[in-house]
Amino acid sequence: MQQSQPTMEPAARTSLNVEALRRDFPILTRTMRGKPFIYLDNGATSLKPQSVIDEEVRYYTELSANIHRGVYEFSEEASECYDQTRGIVARFLNAPSEREIVFTKSATESSNLIAYGWAMKNIKQGDEICISEIEHHANFVPWQALAERLGATLRLIPIDPGDASLDLSDLDRLINDRTRLVGITAMSNVTGYMPPIERILARARAVGAVTVVDGAQWVSHATVDVQKLDADFLIFSAHKMCGPTGVGVLYGREALLNEMDPFLFGGDMVLRVRKEKTVFRKAPEKFEAGTPNIAGVMAFGKAIEYLQNVGMKAIHEHEQDLLRYMVERASEIDGLVSYGPADLSTRGGIFSFNVGDAHPHDTGNILDEDGIAVRTGLHCAHPLMQALGIPGTVRASFYLYNTRAEVDRLIESIHRVRRIFS
Ligand SMILES: Cc1ncc(COP(=O)(O)O)c(C=O)c1O
Repeated sequence: MQQSQPTMEPAARTSLNVEALRRDFPILTRTMRGKPFIYLDNGATSLKPQSVIDEEVRYYTELSANIHRGVYEFSEEASECYDQTRGIVARFLNAPSEREIVFTKSATESSNLIAYGWAMKNIKQGDEICISEIEHHANFVPWQALAERLGATLRLIPIDPGDASLDLSDLDRLINDRTRLVGITAMSNVTGYMPPIERILARARAVGAVTVVDGAQWVSHATVDVQKLDADFLIFSAHKMCGPTGVGVLYGREALLNEMDPFLFGGDMVLRVRKEKTVFRKAPEKFEAGTPNIAGVMAFGKAIEYLQNVGMKAIHEHEQDLLRYMVERASEIDGLVSYGPADLSTRGGIFSFNVGDAHPHDTGNILDEDGIAVRTGLHCAHPLMQALGIPGTVRASFYLYNTRAEVDRLIESIHRVRRIFS
């Protein structure tokens, strides 16, 4: 049985001026199915504020030049804006150097870059890779495929099926002196559960394994300090944190990045090309072959500035408030089963549930009729669904612009699902 026993505490309102923030997101003035649009699919991608949209448009209207190769003013300005964003990301993460920030196209590309650039070279037959059952496919499939290809063993930290948290009782066996790489999510995209990654990373370091933290759900909602985190790699995507699609980040320790092989080869990543041999640039440039998503990277810088102005702590507190309110209101619905630990302080702003016998897609369709966007199904986390023995869930995921009134609308709509399927 996966129903969590929520910790019921009176939900406190938080300091964000949400009504003012909402005006920054033009899409929130739209209607969907003729109803005011309620966006609760932030786990899939976030909405974009006007400043981010404007920066993307500014690149195409005012600059539109390629970077690192033109000597004319617009190209130089575009190069500067692109390169400055690397510094913005580094400061956001408290990274020691901006040379530790590689731009990719997504968190998925970032994990593949580690797999091809580091793991292919350093993992061999008989070695072990340890990840967990709650990983998103982006931090699961690359390691599974690599283990198969190299003859390595893939070990999985299992869940406690009672609440979909991780069962760490066997950690010392799962991460052992054959383990070469440990990959762990900082926040589940299905339940919002934030595993005790410090403990897992400490064990990985103790056996000398390289560590990869999947921050795709976490970085957008938390104050992240990579120096405190002390992981070798951190991956995430701009589009889940008010930025555009098509931009991802690989944070990596500089020494490790420099040891790694490039993954894509071509222009801009080279120092010198001769008929006989090519010399690559150092990281991060050696991983950014070809023309990157210049407009997207520039707009990502604006997204980070936007989030910093609002305040990551305030965002986190606001989401906690919404989660607590959601859990409290959901307890009034007969037959609603939710997934994830009862201790809500171990979770981010995600509420995954099922209603009676209704299939998640049917519930999603009814919510859609009411103007509410949620994600339904397996959430790119098939192994977790397999471990829970369920066909999927409905996922409401919150961000800075969501309100308690929207939670109320969601609850009303779930009551409608209940009536239709009773
Ligand atoms: C936890 C987690 N990791 C990785 C990803 C992959 O992100 P992207 O699709 O932007 O590569 C996602 C996307 O939903 C995610 O939720």
